[in-house]
Amino acid sequence: MISQESIQEIQSKIDIIDIVGSFIKLKKRGANYLGNCPFHNEKTPSFTVSPSKEIYKCFGCGKSGNAIGFVMDHEKYSYVETLRWMAERYNIDLKETETSPEFKAIQHTADSLFIINNYARDFFTDTLFNSDEGREIALSYLRERGFREEIIKKFQLGFNPSAKDEFAQSALSRQYNKELLLKTGLVVNRDDKFMDNYRGRIIFPIHNLSGKILGFGARIIKSNDRAPKYINTPENEIYVKSKILYGSYFARTAIDKANECLLVEGYTDVVSLHQAGIENVVASGGTSLTTDQLRLIKKYTNNLTIIYDGDNAGIKAALRGLDLAVEEGFNVHLVLIPDKEDPDSFVNKIGAESFAAFIKKEKKDFILFQLEIALKETGNDSTKKASVVNQIAETISKINKTEEFTRRQDYIKQVSEILKVEEAGFNALVNKLIREKYSKQELKGSKTDNFNEASSLTIPQDETKPDESFSLFQKDELHEQAMVRSLIEFGLKEWNEGQKVAEYIFSQIDDTDLSELLDNKLLVDIINLYREWYYAGIEPTDKNFLYHEDKSINDMIIRIMDVNTEISPKWKEHYEGHIPTREELYKEEVLSTLTYVQLRKVKRLIAENQQELEKAKSSEEQMICIETHQHLKQIEMELTKRAGTVIYK
Ligand code: UTP
Ligand code: MN
Repeated sequence: MISQESIQEIQSKIDIIDIVGSFIKLKKRGANYLGNCPFHNEKTPSFTVSPSKEIYKCFGCGKSGNAIGFVMDHEKYSYVETLRWMAERYNIDLKETETSPEFKAIQHTADSLFIINNYARDFFTDTLFNSDEGREIALSYLRERGFREEIIKKFQLGFNPSAKDEFAQSALSRQYNKELLLKTGLVVNRDDKFMDNYRGRIIFPIHNLSGKILGFGARIIKSNDRAPKYINTPENEIYVKSKILYGSYFARTAIDKANECLLVEGYTDVVSLHQAGIENVVASGGTSLTTDQLRLIKKYTNNLTIIYDGDNAGIKAALRGLDLAVEEGFNVHLVLIPDKEDPDSFVNKIGAESFAAFIKKEKKDFILFQLEIALKETGNDSTKKASVVNQIAETISKINKTEEFTRRQDYIKQVSEILKVEEAGFNALVNKLIREKYSKQELKGSKTDNFNEASSLTIPQDETKPDESFSLFQKDELHEQAMVRSLIEFGLKEWNEGQKVAEYIFSQIDDTDLSELLDNKLLVDIINLYREWYYAGIEPTDKNFLYHEDKSINDMIIRIMDVNTEISPKWKEHYEGHIPTREELYKEEVLSTLTYVQLRKVKRLIAENQQELEKAKSSEEQMICIETHQHLKQIEMELTKRAGTVIYK
């Protein structure tokens, strides 16, 4: 583990222009730098790097992050790999914290397993191309199936000779440790003799994201009832099935570019599709997807398309694990290919172009597809229909992250049309399920930042029609962000004599429950963090949040901090008079952003109170409500006055 000290040293030396500039060409534009975005195809540059804020933002594709995140994304490095890369660049001696002997041992085993696998890969490819048996039996088999030499080489396919221990002997003669050899699953111990485990089989090496070999899949050549079709590497320090997707190493850049990951079942499907020019494809090995596998895909895209064969078993296998994908925030689509075919056989049958066209045409939304299937089974049975409604509401309620709001509303609309149920009612049902999930999580004491309350809140603004709730929600979110931005940006400036902006803001919100003031939990966390730091004598700047260990905080800060707020100096030259900058107007900004969220809260309280009033049974209760109303109205008026024309013009 890299020590905290070293991490801080790296952070202090980071020069984002230098780092991003070493991968793409940047040109100075005003206070910022501009270049062509490396994450999407563009001809006019919209990729902006702000040296003062130490962040980048692409106005084309929306990608943004700090320097560490840039290298992680661009090079697909892990956090630690990125730190090592930076340390090398800035000549920093990394101090490692003491690792436990157990951890060292595992690390050592893992390294050794990689070395053996590497050797095995070379042995098997050599056998495939350079031995008589390899060429005559294995290579000819692969050719017959339509695999061309170039793709065989790219995927490093190989062949394990059918003699009982050719590989084992070769590995032992090179002094590889016997215990480790057994761990790789390449050899087995029969009566104290080491035998090849994959005798006479075609070998598919399985790579991790950086191209190292985790293990192998070994396919029998002539089908045989007594032997399994594939033998796979047993679980060991590096081969953890639930974390592996076959083909991810070869697919990663294509997935990134296409912003879509295709998922198939088998090794041969991946290789065949690659050969057909469809490279954004990985295989799950026929089991349902795990969270770890989904996270692997998540690094590159949110769009997951499953290509499965149309028989029933295929559909069932596909459906398992897909709910999990929805829950993880994926847009899931499904392509069913004709019965008795798999992607490999089908692409060989109809050709690359028709296959690509087929996918495009047949791609179905997973959630709507599920609904279609369920409806087919219900017919006119109203009890069954009710259960379908509940089921689909349950699925949609899993789309509950803040940024997924529009997508969820889209589904609610479409589904209520298909089911012929009232949209408002269905919407309420989905929101109820979300709330229930939320309160369950609260009970468990787990913190959640992805719950989006906006849709379950009836925001008390008389003129709000339901279909305007989205823009209203968006506006609210932006105002909350603006308030937090003015705290972070201007917090250390003077408010009044002897009082800093941060202190003023805290004096205004001190008695308030912050989670009532702001809907976004992450923003609440940021304010609390700021307050904690501030009163501990640390003067928080945006950098403290930008490099905070919680990545969701980094992301939020990047979203909040607008890189384009500086006024270009050129424009200033042309402008005769004085243009006030945001810096100069900071007091107004602090006041208006703070007032907005406070006003919103008061308006909510007024509406709640009005509902109470309607429900009030006795005149006493009514009186209390009326008094409360007057009191709240008073506050509302004061706040509005304080805000003046700043926010209501
Ligand atoms: P398939 O039987 O569809 O094989 O199993 P395939 O990949 O299409 O191979 P070909 O085209 O017949 O040569 C799909 C996947 O399930 C796993 C493998 O990962 C395989 O690619 N599998 C299958 C096993 O692990 N073991 C088996 O015995 C069979
Ligand atoms: Mn197949």
